[in-house]
Amino acid sequence: MTRIIEARNLRKVFGDFTAVDGISFDVRQGECFGLLGPNGAGKTTTIRMLYGYSPATGGTLNAFGGPLAENLRSVKMRMGICQQEDNLDPDLSVEQNLLVFARYFNLPVEAAQKEAHSLLRFFALEGRSATSIRELSGGMKRRLVIARSLINRPDLLILDEPTTGLDPQSRHQVWQRLEELKARGLTILLTSHYMEEAARLCDRLLIMDQGNILVEGPPAQLVMNHVGREVIEVNAPSEAMRTFLQDKGVLFEEVAQRLLIYNAGDGELFIHLSRDFTRAGCTLRQATLEDVFLRLTGRELRE
Ligand SMILES: Nc1ncnc2c1ncn2[C@@H]1O[C@H](COP(=O)(O)OP(=O)(O)OP(=O)(O)O)[C@@H](O)[C@H]1O
Ligand SMILES: [Mg+2]
Repeated sequence: MTRIIEARNLRKVFGDFTAVDGISFDVRQGECFGLLGPNGAGKTTTIRMLYGYSPATGGTLNAFGGPLAENLRSVKMRMGICQQEDNLDPDLSVEQNLLVFARYFNLPVEAAQKEAHSLLRFFALEGRSATSIRELSGGMKRRLVIARSLINRPDLLILDEPTTGLDPQSRHQVWQRLEELKARGLTILLTSHYMEEAARLCDRLLIMDQGNILVEGPPAQLVMNHVGREVIEVNAPSEAMRTFLQDKGVLFEEVAQRLLIYNAGDGELFIHLSRDFTRAGCTLRQATLEDVFLRLTGRELRE
């Protein structure tokens, strides 16, 4: 199994604040790997170290089989980076943004133009070549930033929140494109706050918080291990129900006026609760990655 990225004990300290606290993970060739975590968890800081934007305070970092720091120039030629902020040049047109970017990679003009056209088509931006960045919608800008990160035909695509702020249509379109790229063999590393996105795209992911890794694994396995197959949700639970659950030793979590029971089992408990305690507002649903995320990182607001 070829490892594209090998991070060992990776640390980043700003003054006396530790943003990334000695994390280790691998990104394997051909997979989509996700970094998840609440605001301020250290995802962007981690990613910035991976592409040499900000040097690590400690630990070792290999990319494409060699130490990153020693091969930064050649490694960057093989990476496509899509940063969290849309950093397009507002004074240039859509196509010019791609062509100027292609110059960093010494692409011959003709090849760059050809690549730009094909990327614009791929991201449904054909016919927008001459449009000014200022006239683009948020979704178009995001698609253009992703297109731009592919201009050098990278072997590793790094995406920091690729679909934040997009409407569902644009988000699904981006997902489809990323799936096509993955099918062509591209290795992808992404961060996301959308659990549905991470569950759909990522082969493996890690959830981090306060600079540390909490869990790592394939999304479906994380769901099975941490919340089970199904979850029971109860709206406005009665005291009698709470007492019943406590007596039975069933673990539950209280969220505002709701009660969540993970590892809900074979449905017997659900039938019992909905029949004997509450007719309305008791639902049995499939457990999701969002359940895992909230269970592990808590429900308090960050930052
Ligand atoms: N240049 C910096 N100087 C000081 N502190 C920083 C710097 N960059 C990041 N931090 C701090 O490091 C922590 C991690 O930030 P980071 O941007 O990596 O989080 P994140 O997981 O990407 O969050 P978000 O989901 O909001 O993008 C935050 O507390 C942030 O304030
Ligand atoms: Mg970030």
